[in-house]
Amino acid sequence: MLIVGIGGTTRPGSTSELAVATALAAAQRKGADTRHFGGTYLASLPHYTPENPARTAAQHELVETVRHADGLIIATPGYHGGISALVKNALDLLEDLRTDTSPYFTGRAVGCIVTAAGWQACGTTLTSLRSVVHAMRGWPTPLGVTLNTAATPPFGRDGACTGPAADRLTGLANQVLSFATCHASGPRDPATAPTA
Ligand SMILES: Cc1cc2nc3c(=O)[nH]c(=O)nc-3n(C[C@H](O)[C@H](O)[C@H](O)COP(=O)(O)O)c2cc1C
Repeated sequence: MLIVGIGGTTRPGSTSELAVATALAAAQRKGADTRHFGGTYLASLPHYTPENPARTAAQHELVETVRHADGLIIATPGYHGGISALVKNALDLLEDLRTDTSPYFTGRAVGCIVTAAGWQACGTTLTSLRSVVHAMRGWPTPLGVTLNTAATPPFGRDGACTGPAADRLTGLANQVLSFATCHASGPRDPATAPTA
């Protein structure tokens, strides 16, 4: 079982990055393999170019890894009420999965996380992220996690997450895993399932 995390900023101590790491650690404790594309990695990706199919090694790696993922966890900071450009650029690159047998996130659960300095951007950005996941044929988990970083700091100086935030991130990871387990033996897209 491979769970892929996408999210973070280039800022040291990035809360969105720590949130993905916390959720992936919970998935690992349940036996999953994980891969995290964090802020530094995302910043190394060139702007997505729809007209030019040439890709860097990092772009190829991200696309290939998501192609083989059994579930995903995506986190973005709320930037001006929406998804950060860094995260959106990575999601736009996944257009390269459009012609796959299971395009984009087909048949995969996607846990969505937002960190922002206020509840308003937490809400609007989570809705945006879930809309993108729907557009990419993924299944946003029932639980979406929003962390207001200006209210109660969810992470300690050592990056550790405890308390209710940790419980919610673990719950989100568990939902991604349980969906992946349910779908492990069947086709990713029920519409393509053979009929009797
Ligand atoms: C360019 C920029 C725009 C932001 N816009 C908002 C916003 O509209 N609403 C909000 O609540 N916080 C906003 N923030 C605060 C971030 O969402 C918040 O600090 C977040 O936790 C940063 O994520 P990080 O810790 O992963 O870097 C903004 C921060 C930056 C740098």
